[in-house]
Amino acid sequence: MKEKIEQFKKYITELEYLKNAIEILYWDMRVGIPVKAVERRSEMLGYLSGELYKKQTSEVMEGFLSELSKFENLDVISSAMVKKAIKEFEDTKAIPEAKNSEFVIVAANSEAAWEKAKAASDFSLFQPHLAKIVELKKEFIGYLGYETTPYDRLLDFYEPGITVEKLDVIFDELKQAILTLLDKIRNTKVNLDNSLFKVNTPKEIQKQFNNMILKKIGFDFEAGRMDESVHPFTINFGNTDVRITTKYIEDDIASAIFGTIHEAGHAIYEQDIPDFLNGTQLAQGASMGIHESQSRFYENIVGRSKSFWKYFYPELQKSFTQFKDRSLDSFYKSLNKVEPSLIRIEADELTYGLHIIIRYEIEKELFNGSLKVEDLPKVWNEKYKAYLGIEPSKDSEGVLQDVHWSGGDFGYFPSYLLGNLYGAQFLNKLLKDMPELYRTFEAGNFEPVHEWLKDNIHVHGSVYKPDELVKKVTGEELTAKYFIQYLNDKYSEIYDLN
Ligand code: CO
Repeated sequence: MKEKIEQFKKYITELEYLKNAIEILYWDMRVGIPVKAVERRSEMLGYLSGELYKKQTSEVMEGFLSELSKFENLDVISSAMVKKAIKEFEDTKAIPEAKNSEFVIVAANSEAAWEKAKAASDFSLFQPHLAKIVELKKEFIGYLGYETTPYDRLLDFYEPGITVEKLDVIFDELKQAILTLLDKIRNTKVNLDNSLFKVNTPKEIQKQFNNMILKKIGFDFEAGRMDESVHPFTINFGNTDVRITTKYIEDDIASAIFGTIHEAGHAIYEQDIPDFLNGTQLAQGASMGIHESQSRFYENIVGRSKSFWKYFYPELQKSFTQFKDRSLDSFYKSLNKVEPSLIRIEADELTYGLHIIIRYEIEKELFNGSLKVEDLPKVWNEKYKAYLGIEPSKDSEGVLQDVHWSGGDFGYFPSYLLGNLYGAQFLNKLLKDMPELYRTFEAGNFEPVHEWLKDNIHVHGSVYKPDELVKKVTGEELTAKYFIQYLNDKYSEIYDLN
């Protein structure tokens, strides 16, 4: 048995090499590829993805899986490795190769159409492509099968174990809590001024400041690097090469600061994953939602806390001199200003959840209900009006703002909000283990928080499914109550509520 597992791990290692090679090409394409190289690069990627598919669905793979699934009493890691490989094999095999290729082409065209439609702010240019994507996704669900609702199958892809039944309860509770809090904030006389963040500041100054924060909070520059790209992202090729990107906007310094801390949260997670998980396909984050819990933990719970800025504010005042006469308290409050907005990625910590809930409700209706693609702009605008009190005046700041749907990534959005929920639930446990947590931030010591996240979450890679991991770490099932509590505590102080 042991020998067979070792042979299997060797085979999986080869798969991982191929995946990493493909990812390096993608990274290069998004970070600095010469314009003329794009076409040949796309061909290379197509070829290598085909080779990967062959290896994933080969007879050798099938042979390994049928033998390994007979073994009983496998240790936790080997058992998780085999389960994951079987699921990946079955899912890959379930979709006919021709359908898969069709989807790749349709998605590529659809992404191009989305870009044009967004630039022209005209949903009708995108509508037929999106309709085709939705139709193909529904076909895929047919091949893959589902237990309770079709949309569950899409959720499962990013967040195994999460279902509409569970999300409906959790998101509903959260929605009510956010709306109530938002209402209270609207009725206060507190008016926060965040205009100093918009003072024009050269890229080089921002870069230096962000690098300093990265080093301090634990990003390992010997196992990673930071570059620039239009859309910030994190990508890794094992735990020793984790790359993040950021984007500097000269008249919005908060964008790069919090974008960088966010991506660092993803990166620290990947850098911490132990070597012994290499060759198992488990050397990666547990799910999209758990990944977002780590990035959001660093960005919001750490990075938007007053304790964090007690340490970093004097440094910030040196780099960004417009703040030299602004008090820490005033800086901290304006940093956390709540203001309903149309664009998801610009939303504050409180209203962000509403942006996700709107997308969740729409996706669910598209796949489980009777919502038609052509009605998306209307429904989108109605929901923004109802939940956030504002309405897009054009499609580019409404239904066309996110790239996700153009590539068929339905079921992805909820992971962002689940990240907030997991994060707050982890925080609750962390504060029990370490009541002095915020004082360590004030002292500029981010080792203790890093160690805790590493020992409790990062070290497991994806050995446990998200629901198992949350239970293991906190002793409870996923719940909205800790995030609600966190929001209430935070904004009551900032807006002087009650
Ligand atoms: Co993220």
